[in-house]
Amino acid sequence: MKIVLAPMEGVVDHLMRDMLTRVGGFDLCITEFVRVVEQLLPAKTFYRLCPELRNGAVTSSGVPVRVQLLGQHPQWLAENAVRAVELGSPGIDLNFGCPAKTVNKSRGGAVLLKEPETLYQIIKAVRDAVPKDQPVSAKIRLGFDDTSLVLENADAITQAGADLLTVHARTKADGYRPPAYWEWIAKIKEVTDIPIIANGEIWNAEDALLCQQRSGCQNLMIGRGALAMPNLAQTIKNNHAPMSWQQTKELLVSYSGYEIYSDKGRYYPNRIKQWFNYLKRQYPEAEAMFVELRKLKNADDIVRMLAT
Ligand SMILES: Cc1cc2nc3c(=O)[nH]c(=O)nc-3n(C[C@H](O)[C@H](O)[C@H](O)COP(=O)(O)O)c2cc1C
Repeated sequence: MKIVLAPMEGVVDHLMRDMLTRVGGFDLCITEFVRVVEQLLPAKTFYRLCPELRNGAVTSSGVPVRVQLLGQHPQWLAENAVRAVELGSPGIDLNFGCPAKTVNKSRGGAVLLKEPETLYQIIKAVRDAVPKDQPVSAKIRLGFDDTSLVLENADAITQAGADLLTVHARTKADGYRPPAYWEWIAKIKEVTDIPIIANGEIWNAEDALLCQQRSGCQNLMIGRGALAMPNLAQTIKNNHAPMSWQQTKELLVSYSGYEIYSDKGRYYPNRIKQWFNYLKRQYPEAEAMFVELRKLKNADDIVRMLAT
């Protein structure tokens, strides 16, 4: 079984990837999306979103990190894919799942699920441009408004030569509302022979098992669940017990050592507050502590509170 750490824009940056892959259980990370419009982006854009490129494109614990691109122009995506791979990204992931209005309005992300032919053109252009030994993966939802095109989309992605397909088992219209329709992944598997990764609504080891049974997929991607329970991948893969609240607090304290000073000291307080929103789901203690945490503005005070 392989477990991929999901891309999460504004949440899972290189520091979070470092932290979560140290906790372990992940085989691959996908970066937050790099937005591609009509230009070849400078190397610094890729390094900013994926500093691991300067370090062999692996996290400090050795887990590969693949760059994700989001856009609608096959040729510009292909050129930027080549650049990302030249900078060291182990393959390219293409985002066809982003529900953000601003992104969809400019024909990026999930809105392309209405256009199987465009999916085909994009993946084909990227596949043709990137060296054969570098995988091209795509990430989709089940559709935009509904699931009517999902099999056609999966077929287009397959015909275009994608090496891997991740399916977030909800439509754009479903947003992030439970449930995730894992059974749809089993239907997709009937029309494609490329490996599939099942994604959506996996919060504990039982969910993971149920997802595997319903989707017929061994390989999983987890996002919010890994923030709610930092060792979720280990509980799924290696039967570890869920991390205790005490251990989780220690992890949060060690995260303070990751402060980005150029961010005027706000990085840690902001990210910890964001992280607590996910932790509240798993740990009742986080809910209580958040009341205090909300009032704190600097890292030292937060670390002091976490150490109590
Ligand atoms: C805050 C946030 C940011 C996300 N950013 C991305 C992104 O940049 N690229 C992408 O393909 N998916 C993105 N996603 C979707 C996740 O990768 C994943 O498909 C989704 O959260 C469902 O999986 P989960 O239930 O395990 O969280 C994002 C999701 C959230 C909640």
